[in-house]
Amino acid sequence: MYIRNQWYLACLLDELKDKNPLEKKILNESIVIFRTESGKIGVIENRCCHRNVYLSLGTVAGEHIRCGYHGWEYGCEGSCQHIPSLPEGERIPPSIKVKKYTFVIKYRSVWVWMGDANADESLLPPMPEMDTLPMVYNYHTLKADLPLVAESLIDAYHINHVHRNSIKTFMGNLYDEKVDFHLNVTDRALTGHYLRNNDGSFFEQFYFGFNKKVETHFGFWFPNISKLDIRFRKRRMVIYEHFYQIDEENICMCQITLWENILDFFPPFARWFMLQKSIKIVREDLAFLENNRQLKNLKDRADILLKADEVSIAFLQLWKRNTKNAEHETMVAKED
Ligand code: FES
Ligand SMILES: [Fe+2]
Repeated sequence: MYIRNQWYLACLLDELKDKNPLEKKILNESIVIFRTESGKIGVIENRCCHRNVYLSLGTVAGEHIRCGYHGWEYGCEGSCQHIPSLPEGERIPPSIKVKKYTFVIKYRSVWVWMGDANADESLLPPMPEMDTLPMVYNYHTLKADLPLVAESLIDAYHINHVHRNSIKTFMGNLYDEKVDFHLNVTDRALTGHYLRNNDGSFFEQFYFGFNKKVETHFGFWFPNISKLDIRFRKRRMVIYEHFYQIDEENICMCQITLWENILDFFPPFARWFMLQKSIKIVREDLAFLENNRQLKNLKDRADILLKADEVSIAFLQLWKRNTKNAEHETMVAKED
C-alpha cells in the first residue's frame, strides 16, 4: 500500500537550474517537473497524449514543455497548447491533456501532493534550516523496507558502529550508559535530543570545540522525513533524509546535508567536503538498510525491543497508528 495523502519532495529547486525537464517516479507514478522561461514551474504527468512517450525526453520551449518525438507542447496546467502538424484553422481538442499535480514551493524545494484528498500545507514538517543554511544533497535508490529506512536516521545507537568513521568522529561516542532522549511524540511526529560524549581527535576538538558533550537533536515526521541535528558550541551540522517508495520494489532516499560555520572560509571547498561526507554516511547505511528485513510483523519486533530502544518503540507506535489512518483514508476514497 502506498501512503498517498502526503507531500513528497519532487525536487530541490537547484535541480531545475539547467532548464532540462526532470523525471521523477513517486509511488509508481512518473512525473515531469520543469521550469518555463519566465520561471513558472510545472509538475505534470510524464506522458505525451500522442504516442505515450515520456515528456521528460523533451525540452522546455518558452512557457511549455515540448515533447521530443513530434513536438506537441503542454503548459504547466497539463493541457496541450501547440501541435506543429495541426492543419491551419483546426483547434486542439481540450481532451488532449495530462494530469496536473498539486505542488508547493517551500524550503528551496518543490513538494508534490500525491493524494486525492485536499492538499494540506500544514502537513509539511518544520525545516527552517533549508531556507538559510548552505546545502548539498544526494539521491540513492535501494531495495529496502520503508519503515526501517525511516527509522534509520533517528536510531542513535547505530552511529557508534555503522558510522564509526564518519559521524562518530564528528560527534563522539554514545557510551553504554543510560541515555535520556527527551522524547516528544505528537500525532504525526517524534522529536528528541540527547548528549554524546565528545571524544573526537585533538584536531576535531580544536575545530569543533572542547566541550565534553555534544548536543544531538533528532526528529521524524510521518511518513517520509527524518532529521539529525548535531550542535557544537559554534558549529552545526543538520542532515535531513527524505525517503519514499518509487514503486513496490525500490525506495528513493534523498539525503540533504546543511551546516553552519563549518569550513566557511572557502564555501566551494565546504560544499565539496560536506558532499563527500554525506555520501560516505549514506553508503555506510546502505548495506544494512538493504538487508534489514522486517520480522513477521511490527508487533513481533516491538516484543523484543529493550527499554533502551525507547525511540524505536515510539517510532513503531507512531508508524503503526499513522499507516492505519492512511489505510482508512484509502478505503474511504475507494468507497467514494
Ligand atoms: S509522441 Fe509526443 S508528440 Fe508525438
Ligand atoms: Fe545511519
